Amino acid sequence: MNGYLAISIRGTGRALPSRVLTNADFEKMVDTSDEWIRTRTGILERRIVSDGQSTLTLAVDAARDALADAGMAATDLDLIICATITPEYPFPATACFMQEQLGVPDIPAYDISAACSGFVYALISAAHFIHHGTYRNVLVVGAECMSRFTDYTDRGTCILFGDGAGAAVIGPAEREDQGMYYCHMGADGKGAATILCPGGGARTPASRETVDQRLHSLKMNGREVYKFAVTKMQQVIHDAMVAQGLAADDIAMIIPHQSNLRIIESAREKLGLPAEKVFVNIDRYGNMSGASVPVALDEVRKSGVVGAGQWVLLVAFGAGLTWASALIRT
Ligand code: COA
Repeated sequence: MNGYLAISIRGTGRALPSRVLTNADFEKMVDTSDEWIRTRTGILERRIVSDGQSTLTLAVDAARDALADAGMAATDLDLIICATITPEYPFPATACFMQEQLGVPDIPAYDISAACSGFVYALISAAHFIHHGTYRNVLVVGAECMSRFTDYTDRGTCILFGDGAGAAVIGPAEREDQGMYYCHMGADGKGAATILCPGGGARTPASRETVDQRLHSLKMNGREVYKFAVTKMQQVIHDAMVAQGLAADDIAMIIPHQSNLRIIESAREKLGLPAEKVFVNIDRYGNMSGASVPVALDEVRKSGVVGAGQWVLLVAFGAGLTWASALIRT
């Protein structure tokens, strides 16, 4: 999708549980090793919620942080979109609970389910509303409690995921050069079964059997996802740069979804991008699905490495299978 959308990022925020699960902790839980996890994934530790915390509490904390960063009140918002695959309840939308907790009656609020691509899908949706004048200030959040949908007896998946939330307040462009210059969303439903939570939906409602068979947690064909991700990540970055005629030197930071350091490094090397232009925090947080990109975006913005007028490229892929990119001039 080409076409300029006149938006700006007004503020960003994040919320991460304080509880840390290290690779050494996993050595005590399943047949694995710190060395295997480090070399195959790049993950050293991840954050996990404690009792009383949930997708909603993280989402609201990240939203408040983003509003403070934007210097705005919740009542300035016109729309809330929450990207999550680990919602507070199967229904209604987590975004509606956020709306209530933030104290903004009547404004629309809904969730987007696009897994690790969810935040970028939501951001692109928000940008269209803002550009066309439908809504002015939109809160976009990626929030996940992956730990609540993880089977901690399955060494092939449990070591990968963490909990967290990131948020951005998006509004109209404040300068002429500011905006989203390119965006792209894609999906391939043929791969829908490669990562899924089989139990608890309309197809296989919760029962004693679904609990006994551990069907309420994420199942993944890691090798298949790896093959898809490694090709898609490279292609999506390449397409965005070509569409806008940008070289590596022109981009201040690429913010990729954090699912596996090897996937990020493979794309970076094949595209000839310098390490300092591709943001990595998977070592500290693991894969937080829809929260990975907005948490990384907040860390990048607050580190001061991206100034006004510079290019930032957000790239994500995940269950669905889905993928998305957004090229933004800050
Ligand atoms: N510790 C030790 N050994 C493990 C292990 C663990 N935590 N998990 C799997 N293994 C074993 C496997 O059982 C297998 O053993 P075998 O050869 O005796 O059968 C071996 O390691 C290799 O397994 P494989 O699945 O081929 O490993 P891999 O190099 O592909 O790494 C992933 C596994 C999950 C890290 C990798 O496939 C991956 O990152 N996939 C993409 C995941 C992803 O991005 N998901 C989210 C999408 S957003």
